[in-house]
Amino acid sequence: MSDSRPIGVFDSGLGGLTVVRELFRLMPGERIIYLGDTARCPYGGRSEETIRLFGIEDAQFLMDQDIKMLIVACNTVSSVALEHIEQRMKDIPVIGVVLPGARAAVLRTAERKIGVIGTVATVRTGSYARAIGKIDPSIKVFGKACPLFVPLVEEGMTDNDITRLAAQHYLYEMIDLGVDCIILGCTHYPLLMEVIQGTVGTRIQLLDSALWTAKEAQDILTAMNALSPYNNGGLEASRFLVTDLTLHFEEQAEAFLGNTIPSIERILLEDLVQ
Ligand code: DGL
Repeated sequence: MSDSRPIGVFDSGLGGLTVVRELFRLMPGERIIYLGDTARCPYGGRSEETIRLFGIEDAQFLMDQDIKMLIVACNTVSSVALEHIEQRMKDIPVIGVVLPGARAAVLRTAERKIGVIGTVATVRTGSYARAIGKIDPSIKVFGKACPLFVPLVEEGMTDNDITRLAAQHYLYEMIDLGVDCIILGCTHYPLLMEVIQGTVGTRIQLLDSALWTAKEAQDILTAMNALSPYNNGGLEASRFLVTDLTLHFEEQAEAFLGNTIPSIERILLEDLVQ
């Protein structure tokens, strides 16, 4: 048995393409419909009420496209609104990025001390600490919001002195706290992997939630016998939708995806808002 319907993936903007990149690496034949709410990005500094509203609108839009699975690629929405989205989408599996990242970190920490970096909203909710605590309450979790990282990545400043200074500013305390794993709890942070690793040193392992989320999606689709038939078109047959064609969107999208995007379609924000 197989299911040729697309996987729906959404994010506040283009950063969720880091999850899509991992999905294609594991399942190159799947078709994806991606929604980036670029008109309202970033979500990370907004109130929980607004993030919840936007997240539910994004999810509902994709649900209306006849998808077989919904992936909430945005850490901020996963932290604030995953349960609300799950309650509304009862017919298909819904995956956020928090639990897969938390599970991977629990398996890797020898010191039982994990660092989590993300947007202000993600860190404020303590979502990763809760997920880790449910698996192993003896593990200590230290969160640190790094609000400058998203704009630095969006400016393409993934490897320069300003970014290194910002990384030192945010991350030196993680070294002092003795963590041995840091979860990259934001779609944009995989692009800062080298700078972050250079700042904290190789003793600390960095965990990319995007990768573990894609693995979880593959495991669930395999268990449900719902993988696509071998050649379902992959990247070429996928659709990439955004609510605004922001400055440099093509370069940014390709940096997150690590590949050329066949085409990006603009949809109207009114199509999302009920
Ligand atoms: N996608 C968001 C996240 O993963 C980062 C960008 C934003 O603040 O909207 O948390």
